[in-house]
Amino acid sequence: MTSRVDAPLKVTGQARYGADHNFPGMAYGYLVLSTIARGRIVAMDVTAAKSAPGVLGVYSPFDPLELHAVSTPMLGETWVPLQDDQVAYYGQAIGFVVAETFEQARDAAMLVEVSYQALPAATSMADGMATAEDAPPSRDGSPSSLEILAPGVESIDEAFAASPVVVEATYSTAPQNHAAMEPHSAVAVWGDGGVTVYSGNQGAMLQVMELAAALGVGPERVHAVNPFVGGAFGGKGRTSAPAFLAAAAARALGRPVKAALAREQVFTATAGRAATVQKLTLGADHQGTLIAMRHDSWCSTAMDRSFVEPTSHGTSREYYATQNLALSQKIVPLNLPPTTFMRAPGEAPGSFALESAIDELAVALNMDPIELRLRNNATAPVGKDLQWSSKHLDECFHVGAARFGWAQRTPQGRTDGDWLVGMGVASALFPALRFPASVEITLRADDTAVVSTGGSDPGTGLLTVLSLVGGESLDIAADRVTPRLGDSAYPPGGMSAGSTATASASTAVMIAATQVIDDLLGLASAPDAPFHGVEVSYEGGRVLGGGRSLSFGELLRALDRESLSATGSSAPGDEYTKHSFSSFGAQFCEVRVHRWTREARVSRMLGVFDAGRIINEKTARSQIAGGMIWGVSAALHEALEFEAGGRPANADLAGYLVPVNADIPDIDVHFLRYPDTLHNAVGAKGIGEIGTVGMAAAVANAVYNATGIRVRHIPITIEDLL
Ligand code: MOS
Repeated sequence: MTSRVDAPLKVTGQARYGADHNFPGMAYGYLVLSTIARGRIVAMDVTAAKSAPGVLGVYSPFDPLELHAVSTPMLGETWVPLQDDQVAYYGQAIGFVVAETFEQARDAAMLVEVSYQALPAATSMADGMATAEDAPPSRDGSPSSLEILAPGVESIDEAFAASPVVVEATYSTAPQNHAAMEPHSAVAVWGDGGVTVYSGNQGAMLQVMELAAALGVGPERVHAVNPFVGGAFGGKGRTSAPAFLAAAAARALGRPVKAALAREQVFTATAGRAATVQKLTLGADHQGTLIAMRHDSWCSTAMDRSFVEPTSHGTSREYYATQNLALSQKIVPLNLPPTTFMRAPGEAPGSFALESAIDELAVALNMDPIELRLRNNATAPVGKDLQWSSKHLDECFHVGAARFGWAQRTPQGRTDGDWLVGMGVASALFPALRFPASVEITLRADDTAVVSTGGSDPGTGLLTVLSLVGGESLDIAADRVTPRLGDSAYPPGGMSAGSTATASASTAVMIAATQVIDDLLGLASAPDAPFHGVEVSYEGGRVLGGGRSLSFGELLRALDRESLSATGSSAPGDEYTKHSFSSFGAQFCEVRVHRWTREARVSRMLGVFDAGRIINEKTARSQIAGGMIWGVSAALHEALEFEAGGRPANADLAGYLVPVNADIPDIDVHFLRYPDTLHNAVGAKGIGEIGTVGMAAAVANAVYNATGIRVRHIPITIEDLL
């Protein structure tokens, strides 16, 4: 149990986030956002803004900054502001005012007069469903729809016709914004070598690629720094509008420029979670064995169709064994802010629908919902030959049921005074992935080591993991290892995305450590070195040979060296041709609904996870607890509400409800510990996203158990329980 190594810096205010960087001569930029949902900007009158006190520049589609289209192999196209006069959503960046102070820039931004030619806008799923389109093929090439049928079965409908018990229901989930504590911001400084951009993101390398493309310079001229990141969750994967604008304006003005979004702007000038509508059909025999599953999904997307929230493919293929499966994924382009990755994209809303439907099937069968899930436990994703490398979902349920007191649950719930009390469960799954990553290890003459990589720790605990795995790999105490992240000058790290960072970086740490120890032993036994001519070995941070030993620091000092460095790289190999890899979990929740006020309160929650090796219990627990809280938020609190004109009605942290301490009881998190070394050398499978998966369904299922009311949309409000 190691405390977060960066905790003292964070809690004492010494941690410097992107916008905390200041430079002599720095100017401040403020974004101007559109006030219609769809149309063309006819004119922008910037006369008053330009003559306002302190104003240095007013940029717009008619007087743009030099920025170019951005496309990367990893994320495809990323939108770059001010490139044309088209407005596709309310709150889109359409101008940038730079002034001597933040207040001057903000005041001048209010003076920009915009004339629009407005067009009718589609701003709700109801508006857009009629014109839904097939989703483009997913990144792994899967088509938008897929049908897998048992031999001799002609159609999925035939499989349902042959199913003695069928449940069918349509579920919906609300759009969300990441609402990270740190709003998107950037500080850009140009020098002889190029530009340095300080901006919170999920991986310095991607930011370098995107900024270089946008600025039309070589990647060697962009230095991306993100030492601390105040929350990301997928919302700081792509480079943000403030970063593009600050970098381009700093170049145009020849001064450092800082740009930060106001909280309200975060809700539109970034991207968030799609709204979804999902129709589930499940067919089973009387014993609860699934015969057929169908999952048809619609997700909102921006008019540029830049992101698909893959609820069907990301969920129903992976959770349960069935011989017959039909999936489809459609997109609903809307005049709303763009959608993007948000913690467990696909699985989070997808598991709400699927795991609610499974609960409905359990009710129809009069069967315990855990029993139903275990009966359909799959050993491989449906239609794939590759079995999971390790899967202990059944143990998650058994351990969880005992810990949670599941045996006390009745199908009708129970009462406690004026409270109706129910319990719910859901399965959770998230694929275990890995990205290429490189790590440099430096042994220093003072007997400490430095582990550096260009990845990022947006609160995940990666920094702490690097010191632990670094210490373990070098066979020294972790407090002798200084971890460094968040700088593109370090070897290219992976992304803190897709629950991949620990597995990716740790594997590279192990390889780098082996290399630097080899190099150290080579130095130790070179001619004129202390161990010349004797057999050498390494243990506990010391070189041993010829009956004596020196610490690596002593050896480096004897050789008059300050340090010795080596780099290790790792990338996914052919393991994905041999197995499927996922983390698994069982979510348990107890909800109390007040008989008269109908308020629903989560009173207990437990998550049991099979996520491979857990490197640091404390930060791992924190990751999972954060995800579970997000699941409660999705179930009972969180929704971005858009007015018909596309303006968000609750674009602040007063109106955009997230749980506060009073909403969250003690959270019990339990890890099964089965290292998965078929996936990577360190054995970790990923915990960043799975904590939120299934949680919303566990809450909704508990609400049903308490009240008998099945709510098929989230968030669930008091009105739903009247
Ligand atoms: Mo995240 S949604 O893993 O960037």
